[in-house]
Amino acid sequence: MKRVAVLASGRGSNFQAVIDAIGEGYIPAECAGLISDNPGAYAIERARKAGIPFFIVDYSLYASKEDYESALLPAMQSLHADLFVLAGYMRILGARIVREFPGRIINIHPALLPSFAGLHAQRQALEYGVKVSGCTVHFVDEGMDSGPIIVQSCVPVLPGDDEESLSERILSREHLCLPWAVRAFCEGRIRVEGRRVSITGEPPPPPG
Ligand code: GRF
Repeated sequence: MKRVAVLASGRGSNFQAVIDAIGEGYIPAECAGLISDNPGAYAIERARKAGIPFFIVDYSLYASKEDYESALLPAMQSLHADLFVLAGYMRILGARIVREFPGRIINIHPALLPSFAGLHAQRQALEYGVKVSGCTVHFVDEGMDSGPIIVQSCVPVLPGDDEESLSERILSREHLCLPWAVRAFCEGRIRVEGRRVSITGEPPPPPG
């Protein structure tokens, strides 16, 4: 049984999707724990309700990002996870942490990368005027939202959309794609060659 840990900064609906998929037996893993950089994150409440161990490494208590990551790293190591899932984790992981877990950290991003990396991806997409957007699950490398892509799913951008309505439409795809990717990882079906990721077995969730 693989051990999956989650890092989340906020609401945690993607974390919940992983919890539920594990509970239903769709992901053959146990949830090793949640780490949050934000003591006010609703994700912590979700961990509590599900009986999942959680650890708060409060970013605001550290003088620098380096100091914060010096506390985050041992917290991550202590979970003995096979996979770390960044599910609404609103910081860029430093190189030291990324190198410690090569090929074992994935992230969910609410846009079709490489378009609209970084914060407020849905707002960026609206302002740019694209007609489709979506979500991307990818491996984490030392850049910002730049690692090899595991799965993407698209949604239309509709006339009259605002940031909230587009985010909601994308989120419903995120809740399908993230468990799908975690399941493939846990079943050892993912192969990475350079930037290209191939996955055997179950086809990805259809585009929206
Ligand atoms: C999601 O849109 C995710 O893609 C982005 O932040 C949001 C987090 O939502 N990185 P939630 O906390 O999982 O509900």
